Amino acid sequence: MKQANIDALAAAAQKATSQAAFATTIVTAEMPDADAVNSQLKSTVLEHMQKNPGVSRSNINGWQSEPDMLNAGWGGEATAILARLAVGICNGFSKDLKMVDKPRFEWMADIWANVSAAGASNNWHVHPQAFWSAVYYVDDGYNGPDDSEAGGELVFQDPRYPMNRMFSSELVFRESDGKPQGHTATFRPRNGMLIAFPSWLYHKVQPYLGDRQRISLAINMTVMPARSEQDSSSGSRPAVR
Ligand SMILES: [Fe+2]
Repeated sequence: MKQANIDALAAAAQKATSQAAFATTIVTAEMPDADAVNSQLKSTVLEHMQKNPGVSRSNINGWQSEPDMLNAGWGGEATAILARLAVGICNGFSKDLKMVDKPRFEWMADIWANVSAAGASNNWHVHPQAFWSAVYYVDDGYNGPDDSEAGGELVFQDPRYPMNRMFSSELVFRESDGKPQGHTATFRPRNGMLIAFPSWLYHKVQPYLGDRQRISLAINMTVMPARSEQDSSSGSRPAVR
């Protein structure tokens, strides 16, 4: 091959552009007036934990409530406030392609509490049947923002994994900004922070090693056809819109 052709091909490869397809949406939001909301949630959760043995799901060593904090009413006003924030995020980051004037779908929130002492963690898992899931931090358990020894980070796994590691763990795809594609995304919790993600996305919680009990709430948002105002006021399950 002539050198001129080689140079032309190298130049064409250098000018090639890329675009990201099939991105996975992870949303973060801050609770307004979080200190007041969290203080209510903290006492509600700890009081409930005294009287209930909890359930075992993906949690290792932590206490987890039944997912009825909102719908059985024991979560009080602060839980309703959290559900409203979650619904706002679901509405903001989802789209009904055939909506004309009124919403055709309605969100239902199942909320449960997690209380983690040192040594607690959560295995890799997904949230079947829900559309969006979220976690909200009532008390991150950290002694300030630099308490990196305390662990407990929320870690999401690239849903394409292990496709992007099949040949070698050291050869990865490159983003258009030049950064290497990772196979996990890690979030450090913070009081008042809500992280929402597609329910099918695998995630885990690194072992939490802090001094205090960590308190977080988890949310599953399921979808059903929107009911009329009359139906929803007579229904057994509270509508959260
Ligand atoms: Fe989860």
